[in-house]
Amino acid sequence: MKIGKIELTQKDFDVLIIGGGGSGLRASLEISKTGLNVAVVSKVFPTRSHTVAAQGGITCAIASADPNDDWRWHMFDTIKGSDYIGDQNAIEYMCSEGPEAVFELEHLGLPFSRFENGRIYQRPFGGQSKEFGEGGQAARTCAAADRTGHALLHTLYQANLKEGTKFFNEWFAVDLVKDAKGNVNGVSCFDMETGEVSILKANAVVLATGGAGQVYEQNTTSLICTGDGLGMVSRSELPLQDMEMWQFHPTGLYGNGSLMTEGCRGEGGYLINSEGDRFMPNYAPKAKDLASRDVVSRCIVQEILAGRGCGDKKDHVLLKIDHLGADAIKQKLPEIREISMTFANVDPIKEPIPVVPTCHYMMGGIPTNVNGQVLKTDDLGKDIVVGGLYSIGEAANVSVHGANRLGGNSLLDLVVFGRAAGRHINESITKNEESILDRDSVENSVEILNRLLESKKGENVFDLRKKMQNVMQTYFGVYRNEKLMQEGINKLQEINRLSKDIHLRDKSNQFNSERVEILEFLNLLETANATAYSALERKESRGAHAREDFPNRDDNNWLCHSLYQKNGNKVSKRDVNLKPISVDAFKPKARVY
Ligand code: FUM
Repeated sequence: MKIGKIELTQKDFDVLIIGGGGSGLRASLEISKTGLNVAVVSKVFPTRSHTVAAQGGITCAIASADPNDDWRWHMFDTIKGSDYIGDQNAIEYMCSEGPEAVFELEHLGLPFSRFENGRIYQRPFGGQSKEFGEGGQAARTCAAADRTGHALLHTLYQANLKEGTKFFNEWFAVDLVKDAKGNVNGVSCFDMETGEVSILKANAVVLATGGAGQVYEQNTTSLICTGDGLGMVSRSELPLQDMEMWQFHPTGLYGNGSLMTEGCRGEGGYLINSEGDRFMPNYAPKAKDLASRDVVSRCIVQEILAGRGCGDKKDHVLLKIDHLGADAIKQKLPEIREISMTFANVDPIKEPIPVVPTCHYMMGGIPTNVNGQVLKTDDLGKDIVVGGLYSIGEAANVSVHGANRLGGNSLLDLVVFGRAAGRHINESITKNEESILDRDSVENSVEILNRLLESKKGENVFDLRKKMQNVMQTYFGVYRNEKLMQEGINKLQEINRLSKDIHLRDKSNQFNSERVEILEFLNLLETANATAYSALERKESRGAHAREDFPNRDDNNWLCHSLYQKNGNKVSKRDVNLKPISVDAFKPKARVY
């Protein structure tokens, strides 16, 4: 079929997974095993997906470091870490299913580090406790040195090859396609090598497109983290949830942004200021450097604001690990040493690493239930499942991280909910089931590609992207207030206006990176808008959302999710699930570490 200047081919599958990272590959593995015809569409070769960058580990109560460890303690920590807006049924599901999902990875061949007794190595991470916060620090993060994501992603990719999963590598997914009833039944895509545009049709489409860290100027994420699934969902008039909640990792490498794993502090490292003082015990006397990430990041900013930052500009602090000794660093934190030496010219065996809070993770995303089915709400605020559409991993908001994610819970989220979505699809999709594409929907899904091909002059994507990243960094960072955010929104509105006139200078087909960057920018801009309006609306401080003008948590008005709708930039409220199935609900308490 030809639409505008574009000749479209069509390919049919039972299931399409958009994204070849940890969650996508875990879902495709589950589905491939049953014989459904499943294809993974990935804009990079799958083992280059951002999961590969995860360092410190996968948090799970497998009771290796402590034989008494209990998934309910993990559940409590995760709910407290989320500042009580994580859905308790979803957190219960993740923490209780977690051990089986981790042992599956072990059996697939994931090369975990080991204790001397041969069991999987676990290290302490931030916000972990025993006995529901009363028993001291837990060690619950299962690790493959400081390259856990790398090991996990390669293991899953190999398992998929064995099961015969079909891959469309270096294909870019543009927009969702629906049938006449509004059920999602395909995606418009193009092959980046040839420029050939296709409609890939399927009865279930899973958005496993990862996060959108590139929305901020300074971030720990790969250049590919551009919120592509969020853009598709938002343009389909579906809501995004808790988009004000962005995690700033306390230890991004100063000047470069690379992640310096929390595992450094888990292994005994600590932060110091320009006076050489270890400052975290002043703020978090019990957990110290292993308080939750939102807490540690704010403490670093406080130290810098108090004039105790390091370096000529007094704008960062130092992460000291030299006292762990050369052997421990080489064995447990080899990647950290390599990155520090390569990008900061610092050998952490000899001197401390310069670090600063850096955007790391998107807690918000596409609202789903525990089966990964995407949700919207009706006029009365009741949840409705969006037919044919699933989302998992960082793109999704199921919601297990609420207002602040605990370290190592992201890899667990990927495999637990990747598997859950796979299982649900296996139960609800029949092989070769017929469905019909809606012509208008197909046309809409390639509208942007036609518009770009016809553009004669206009705005440059690289300038717009730079401006947007700067606005997000300046106006929607660790500390926020109404005046600042309103100013940021005014600037974003101008960028939105200019983006309507964006110009594709290069009209060629083969590896047209400018076309890809424009589409990625438009997805980032949807993410930025959702963040800005949701952040302005939430008039309290909770987890990673710290407002100077509303410094306290307000459970009376804001113990709820925020739901952003692109149409009119409207933000509404959605109930948090406070009803776990097998245990009593954890009641909101003051959150101290
Ligand atoms: O610090 C880290 O290793 C990051 C882990 C995570 O974000 O889960």
